[in-house]
Amino acid sequence: MKIFATYNIKGGVGKTAAAVNLSYLAAQDGYRVLLWDLDAQAAASFLFRIKPRVKGGGKALIRGTRTIDDAIKATDFDGLDLLPADFTYRNLDLVLDAGKKPQQRLGSLLAPLSGEYDVVFLDCPPGISLLSESVLNAADTLLVPLIPTTLSVRTLDQLTDFIGGLDGSRPQILAFFSMLDRRKRLHREISEQLPAKRQDVAATAIPAISLIEQMSVQRAPVTAFAPRSAAARRYAELWAEARERAGLPQLSGSSSMP
Ligand SMILES: Nc1ncnc2c1ncn2[C@@H]1O[C@H](COP(=O)(O)OP(=O)(O)OP(=O)(O)O)[C@@H](O)[C@H]1O
Ligand SMILES: [Mg+2]
Repeated sequence: MKIFATYNIKGGVGKTAAAVNLSYLAAQDGYRVLLWDLDAQAAASFLFRIKPRVKGGGKALIRGTRTIDDAIKATDFDGLDLLPADFTYRNLDLVLDAGKKPQQRLGSLLAPLSGEYDVVFLDCPPGISLLSESVLNAADTLLVPLIPTTLSVRTLDQLTDFIGGLDGSRPQILAFFSMLDRRKRLHREISEQLPAKRQDVAATAIPAISLIEQMSVQRAPVTAFAPRSAAARRYAELWAEARERAGLPQLSGSSSMP
């Protein structure tokens, strides 16, 4: 089982859009996929038309008084399940802090699912907190959306330093440019130069495309409702890179994008 997390300290950079589309594409490939919407804002749950509600709240899940299995819901898509958000997730830091080994808690909660799922996506809230530390510990691959500016590159360096200083297992980082606007010279320059220089930056960039915003109207991944669109093709390329980095085999009979 490989665990991917979409993560950035910054908000509104395309974490949820990536988690939703890549988890859909992984399921299309034939992997058994679980997406955990860890954000109390519940955007991923909304996009998959699932009520953001977990009985007993985040506390019951983290403490283990309710099993994760109990809270998982099927989505409309084969092979893709969702562990919904809950408004109580806003307090996950406090719940983690009250327990033992909070940094390892998420990983140990997910470990028993390895027989049921091949791929897990964690869609994280923005920020850097105890929850983030637990995510960083659990994840094999961290997918970090970056708006192509100089400051975003600094954010990536800060994140890399932070991860380097963590005890325990550390994720590999795969950053990618998000909301790329080719009309902006700085966007073009940064998104062309950086992937060539740094192996932790994906070759694929996700452009700013209004069809991606339409996901909240359609309440589905763009890769599902417009699979031939440019947006869907970029996400398919990003998934191929992420899959390879994580060392996941390409499944036979996988449905490659048209
Ligand atoms: N490539 C894109 N082009 C255009 N709009 C996008 C793109 N990616 C995301 N969006 C839109 O931008 C908004 C923020 O995206 P998203 O929710 O994925 O970001 P986020 O990093 O998860 O935000 P938060 O930190 O609040 O969880 C959403 O309305 C989404 O539809
Ligand atoms: Mg989000």
